[in-house]
Amino acid sequence: MASTFLQRHKMIERNITLLAALAFGAVTIGGIVEIAPLFWIDNTIEKVQGMRPYTPLEQAGRDIYIREGCYLCHSQMIRPFRDETERYGHYSLAAESMYDHPFQWGSKRTGPDLARVGGKYSDAWHVQHLKDPRSVVPESIMPSYHFLAGRPLEITDVQPEIKTLSLVGVPYTRDDIAKANDDLKTQADPSADATDLKKRYPKAQARDFDGDPQHLTEMDALVAYLQVLGTMVDTNAPAAQEKLAKEKGR
Ligand code: HEC
Repeated sequence: MASTFLQRHKMIERNITLLAALAFGAVTIGGIVEIAPLFWIDNTIEKVQGMRPYTPLEQAGRDIYIREGCYLCHSQMIRPFRDETERYGHYSLAAESMYDHPFQWGSKRTGPDLARVGGKYSDAWHVQHLKDPRSVVPESIMPSYHFLAGRPLEITDVQPEIKTLSLVGVPYTRDDIAKANDDLKTQADPSADATDLKKRYPKAQARDFDGDPQHLTEMDALVAYLQVLGTMVDTNAPAAQEKLAKEKGR
């Protein structure tokens, strides 16, 4: 019995055409099983309330975050484990990074996860911490980014960037693109009228972020970005709570 099986297998191993045909068949079946379901589900990302694209200022801050390599020490994805959710809050939802190009999930955590750091500290704390981490957290090994406060924010980059993001599916409107440069300045200028900005970007926080209202700096942008992280979706809303309770009960 075993020897006839081996005999047959020998046949496959010695006939390259047969081997290729059977291997092709096996891979095709495996491929169909994996790929076909994707054609029948509309979306792999669950819809959640509250997600909106980043404002131009937040997007500019995000670019600085990437430029400075903050992701080398910080992840932005809270895993659904108890130790993580107790420390950082509700685990990250797929929809929360659907407008991130590129996403900043990461796997390296020399410092804490930042997915929900928005609103955890004041702007002044962030500015002080970025300028001199050890002045607020004595044991910190985070590098100092004091130079960001002295660097004027480049405003000409943001409009083409927002336009490009809209091409890859981030739902910026024509209005958003046309007003990008103004939006960038308005959000960090306490004397400007931010009503229109807030209408297009619900819950956007508009104020001077870096403690220096006279200048629009890279620090303004980075702090605006940090303060929005994890705040768009209200994970305490009844629907989210219900979903969480259901998942816990499983
Ligand atoms: C060499 C690794 C490293 C790099 C690079 C780094 N950090 Fe950190 N970061 C840390 C460590 C360690 C901590 C925890 C100690 C502390 O709070 O300073 C931390 C803490 C933080 C916190 C406070 C988080 C919390 O929940 O308490 C923020 C916000 C932060 N970093 C932002 C940034 C930003 C923005 C950048 C890039 C400009 C950056 N970090 C780059 C290591 C790093």
